[in-house]
Amino acid sequence: MSKKDKKTVLVLATRNEGKVKELKALLSDLPLEIRSLKDYPDAPEVLETGNTFFENAFQKAREIAQATGELALADDSGLEVDALKGRPGVYSARYAGPKATDEENYRKLLEELRDVPPEKRTARFRCVIVVYHPSGHWLKTEGTWEGLITTEPRGEHGFGYDPVFLIPELGKTAAEVPPEVKNKLSHRAKALAQLKQKLPAFLEAL
Ligand code: IMP
Repeated sequence: MSKKDKKTVLVLATRNEGKVKELKALLSDLPLEIRSLKDYPDAPEVLETGNTFFENAFQKAREIAQATGELALADDSGLEVDALKGRPGVYSARYAGPKATDEENYRKLLEELRDVPPEKRTARFRCVIVVYHPSGHWLKTEGTWEGLITTEPRGEHGFGYDPVFLIPELGKTAAEVPPEVKNKLSHRAKALAQLKQKLPAFLEAL
């Protein structure tokens, strides 16, 4: 078998099974052998110490590529609220404290925005994906999803800040729409669509 016939291994730099499933399905038609950190129990735990989503995704992808010797993919995402100058941003998962629940995080956000009028409650989810090859070549893609922060949580679907993120064109929160709808509109869906477009040329050039 020639080098070109052999599938390139891609290690997903996450221990989140939901993400692994989503990424595996999305990338299934590319010539990749997809693995996750489950296949590398000794891989290091990469801390998110960056000031931007890009720094965090880049750091995770690079460390996992270097630790495994394979191509690695990492993402980082969160919510940016304009009235809070972009917070919670990279702190989205731990906004109300290191072990905060989703509800504690969005309750804190609603409290901080208590006096902010509807037209100033603009926000966006952002997702950055980095694919890093041990040779040092890398690729970045990004997606955003614009919305408004509600005054009360609504809906049971999704996770994180979905119950307080209003999709203006639907008049519903991200937690009130089924996953099929969210997965067409979301920041992650957009970053993944871009990744899928750019990945074949990137792999070809390795
Ligand atoms: P990470 O990208 O897995 O580090 O997640 C960052 C955090 O951002 C999550 O824990 C959520 O609080 C928030 N977040 C990211 N994407 C979404 C989303 O699609 N809906 C709601 N919250 C999200």
